[in-house]
Amino acid sequence: MTHKAFFLLHRDLPREGPGERGDVSWAAEVAGLRPDAAICDAACGPGADIPALLFAAPHARVVGFDLHAPFVDDAAARFESDPRVTVMQGRLVADAADDLPDPAALGPFDFLWCAGAAYFVGLRAALRAWAPALAPGGHVAFSEAVWLTDDPAPEAQAFWAGYAAMTDADGIAGRVAEAGWETVATRVLSDAAWEGYFGPMERRIAALRPGADAELAAVLDEAAEEARIWRTHRRDFGYLLSVVRPA
Ligand SMILES: C[S@@+](CC[C@H](N)C(=O)[O-])C[C@H]1O[C@@H](n2cnc3c(N)ncnc32)[C@H](O)[C@@H]1O
Repeated sequence: MTHKAFFLLHRDLPREGPGERGDVSWAAEVAGLRPDAAICDAACGPGADIPALLFAAPHARVVGFDLHAPFVDDAAARFESDPRVTVMQGRLVADAADDLPDPAALGPFDFLWCAGAAYFVGLRAALRAWAPALAPGGHVAFSEAVWLTDDPAPEAQAFWAGYAAMTDADGIAGRVAEAGWETVATRVLSDAAWEGYFGPMERRIAALRPGADAELAAVLDEAAEEARIWRTHRRDFGYLLSVVRPA
């Protein structure tokens, strides 16, 4: 898959993973977020969750970052007139390959929100790197794919086979503990949260189908298959949202 075909499908989509406004407000309440909190949206993609973060903390300072420039451009354009929001290129965890900032360099934050992205660097590595990014009393909220049953359908298992770290809610809590953090509360994302991701993406797929070359068609097929697998097996896997803090 080329970046060009990928971003043809993904550019300007409202969000890049499952999630809904209620997830942010729930996590903010669990974390006891103050109205003037310092907040990080780590791997913010197009910035879908920033309005909900600002709703939860109207006088906040929000720093959103993402590794991929097209998402940074989308999010920056979305919030260019809001002085509370800064969007930049950054990394979940600093990498010697470049000097992009990570949360520890951008903080301290009272609340670090990371929707559907910690797996890129591994949950334990992310949490270890984020401990110095938090202000005293701060919390991290992250969502991560999990099995919801001990006996997932073979097709669902095949779909997730490339993600060796896939586990269940207990497995996530175990990794949180191994990183030296504690889980405060969890909840499973709703079907509406998934539709908020797949709905706009499927409309974009339909719009791009006519005239798509082979490369774009392959990207569209892969995205359509992702949605089909979720609709067929949504009771077998989901996203777990966890609010955690250093132990
Ligand atoms: C599933 S998307 C979620 C985006 C956004 N949080 C949302 O819910 O719409 C994962 C995001 O992680 C970003 N990403 C992947 N690896 C990253 C890294 N090492 N540092 C920062 N962002 C990264 C991707 O560019 C993408 O925007």
